Order: sequence, then C-alpha cells, then structure tokens
Amino acid sequence: MNRNWNRREFLAANLSLASAAALDVFSTPIYGAVDADSKPAILGGEAIKYDAGPAWPFFAGDEVERLTEVFESRQWNRGGESSPTVVFENDFAELLGSKYGLAVSSGTTALQTALSALDFGPGDEAIVTPYTYVASVNCILESYALPVFADVDLETFQLDASRAEERINENTQALLPVHIGGAPVDMDAFLELGKKRDLPIVEDACQAVMGEWKGKKLGTLGTLGCFSMQISKNLCGGEGGVVLTDDEFLAYKVLDAHTHGFLPHSGASLESYRPVRASNYRMTGFQGAILSAQLPHIAGQADTRNENALYLSSLLREIPGVYPQRIYDGGRSAWHLYMFRIVEEEFGLSRDELIQALQAEGVPCYAGYQSCDWTGYVRRSLDTRAGRRVYSKERLDEWEEATSLPNFHRLTKEAVWFFQYQLLAPKENMDAIADAVRRIRKRAPEIKKALS
Ligand SMILES: Cc1ncc(COP(=O)(O)O)c(C=O)c1O
Repeated sequence: MNRNWNRREFLAANLSLASAAALDVFSTPIYGAVDADSKPAILGGEAIKYDAGPAWPFFAGDEVERLTEVFESRQWNRGGESSPTVVFENDFAELLGSKYGLAVSSGTTALQTALSALDFGPGDEAIVTPYTYVASVNCILESYALPVFADVDLETFQLDASRAEERINENTQALLPVHIGGAPVDMDAFLELGKKRDLPIVEDACQAVMGEWKGKKLGTLGTLGCFSMQISKNLCGGEGGVVLTDDEFLAYKVLDAHTHGFLPHSGASLESYRPVRASNYRMTGFQGAILSAQLPHIAGQADTRNENALYLSSLLREIPGVYPQRIYDGGRSAWHLYMFRIVEEEFGLSRDELIQALQAEGVPCYAGYQSCDWTGYVRRSLDTRAGRRVYSKERLDEWEEATSLPNFHRLTKEAVWFFQYQLLAPKENMDAIADAVRRIRKRAPEIKKALS
C-alpha cells in the first residue's frame, strides 16, 4: 500500500483536496492512515480507521457438510481408520513433518498424555516457564509432580535455557519449554540441554501450530510435541489437541494413555486393556470433521500473519519505548499472539495507560498474563493428603527459595498483546496500529493527566 496515497485518501475523506493543498498538509510527515500530530481518540480525537481482522473462528466453508456426514454416519466418537479424527491426526502429523500424531480432546490432555507416556509421576520435577497459561503448570501437578520455574528472557519472552539448566537436579524428569505466543524457545539450546542431561523434552506447542525452528515445525523437534485446537487457537476445533512424536514406542504409549490402553477389537475382558496409567482423552468425530475442514487453510494464514507481524514489528521498533518480542535467529513464530513491551520511562505512559488509549482507538489489545505468586499456587495445589505425603515442607521450602523470577514479573507489567486474527487483516491496518501508538506517545503527558 502506497503510504502517500493512503494519506491523500484519508484527507480526501475529511477535507476537500483544495483546502488540503491550501493548508499544505501533504508536506507534513505521514504515517499511513493518520497524522502523528492528530489528537488521539482518548483525548476526544477521531478514532483511527482500523479493521481488527476476520471474525474468529473463521469458516472454511465445508464444515456443515462434514459435520452432517459424521452425524448421519452415527460414528460420533473417534472411530476407526478412515474416520475424520484419524484422518485429521494423520494429515496434521504429515503437514508438520512428524511420524506419529494422536488427536486428543484438548491441549491440556495432550500434555497430560505426553507426560503419562514418559511415566512421569509423583515426586518428579519438570522445568517450565512462568510466562504461560496455567495448563502448562497444571499438567505437571496433575501427576503430583513438581513444576520448577526458571525465569524468562526479557527480549524474547521465552524460558531461558541457561536458567532452566540451573534448576535441574536428580528429580528432574522432563524439560517442558513453552513456545509462548507461538514463537520458538531457543530450540538448539534446549535440544543440547536435553541431550547433555539425558532429559526428554515435551514441547508445549499449544500456541505454536506452524511455527518453525530452522525449517522444522515447532512441536516436532523435542521428544513429544503438544498442540491445542481450543477456540482461540490458530487451528481451531472448538476444543481439541494433538500429540506428535517420531518415537514409535512413545506413539503407542500416548495412544494407550488417551484411551485406557484399550486394544481395539480384542473383546471386553481385562486382557483387552494394557495395564497403563490412562484415561479417556479421545477426540470426537465432530472435532475431527471441523479440524479437517480448517487444516488446508493454516499454511496460508500462517504466511499472512508472519508477513504482517514482521511488518508491524519494523514499524513499532522505531518508536521509543516500544519493544516487539524478539524472535530467535532461525525461528519463525506462528503468531498466536503478537506481543510487545512498553518501557514507561521511554514511552511516557504505563502499559495499562497505553492499552486504554489503544482501546479508545478501536484496537483490541490485552495485558496478557498477570503477575502471580506461582510458588504459592503450587503449594496450595499440593496441600492435599496425597500432596503432603509426596512433598515435605523442607523440600518445598528449598524449591521456593531457589525460584527467582524478576523478568517474569517485569514482563507481566510491560507486555501488550494483540490476537492472532488481527494479523489476518489487510496490511494497512498494521500501519494504522503504528500510527495510533505514535500519536498516543506524542500526547503522552496529556493522556497521563487525563487518566489520573
Ligand atoms: C501455552 C498453552 N499450554 C496449554 C494450553 C492448554 O490447551 P487447552 O486449552 O486446549 O487445554 C494452552 C491453551 O490455551 C496454552 O496456551
């Protein structure tokens, strides 16, 4: 989009061209759709012209037909070989480049299934980021295991591999890096760490469908990769999840763990069930049908998001006090979230003030994960009869004392999030966001005063 033309279009809609020329407004600096000197909406100015992207979830078009087929087939459950769920899990694994894929009921159960396949249990520890959705922690607690938090890197928002290494001890049984926002952790560092300390890596790729590390898809590099297809996700089935692995033995173990170790067609005696720690985490045929309809569209959408996000970062990076999430070299984000930090001393407004001002412009944005007392949360979760049996007060005191998360707490005060569908809007909307942030910064003292 030609920025000069944008500006002319905008002015033509608001002034006659003759009066615009008379005011010599074309010679002032231009920033996409609005003038950096114009009044922000929060101070009573006109809101920017902004399209927040398509309604989400989007419709691929053939969902109703596929759902009707499942309905009429009466095969509403997971089904056999050619069922939509089994076809979906195979197609998903193939698209991402993994040998085995298993569809499950959610991202949370994908993580639980993966940990269960690793015989993860009471007293074990897994290293995880504090900057994540609570499911990354609860999947560990569900096994009466201990989540061990290591701090994040402030620039990339990701679990820092060297800090993760510092927290490894004889109880550590897994590394659980989360590709937060859909952007990769430093996978080279985690793969090396896993190898060096002989630890399996469970990638929480719940936000990272189609994200990449050096040409390989996220969720296919570790021992097991877990995905979520919950309503907000880039590939969405309402609810749903997938576990990927290249390891045949683990593929059987996840299959068993998600369906009581049931051997199909082997009768109803107890011999039909392999004795494994298992549950029912099966995906239904309806979820499989919707996901099969959506799957062909995710590669194109991932490209659009990536193009828009990189462009938006190039604009925002130029504004003092604005720090877009850095993507590690060799990585490509799935852009489930577009995240940046606001440093108040440089920007002139706090993160929360900027959010109010951006929302007044009609730009959906969000503060994201809040600062929290993770160790208190875990202590309360384990303060049960079984939890007290596994964890002594001394062990938890020691674990808590070693937990230090200054970057996490800072990030929760500085981060701003946009949602993935905003990156599917036409490119000029990235200009519009940057315009809005620029004009808000220009009037920061006035805005601060107005909001105080
Ligand atoms: C990082 C992360 N891990 C795990 C999950 C859990 O996925 P689900 O909601 O499908 O159970 C989510 C979903 O929001 C997530 O964002």
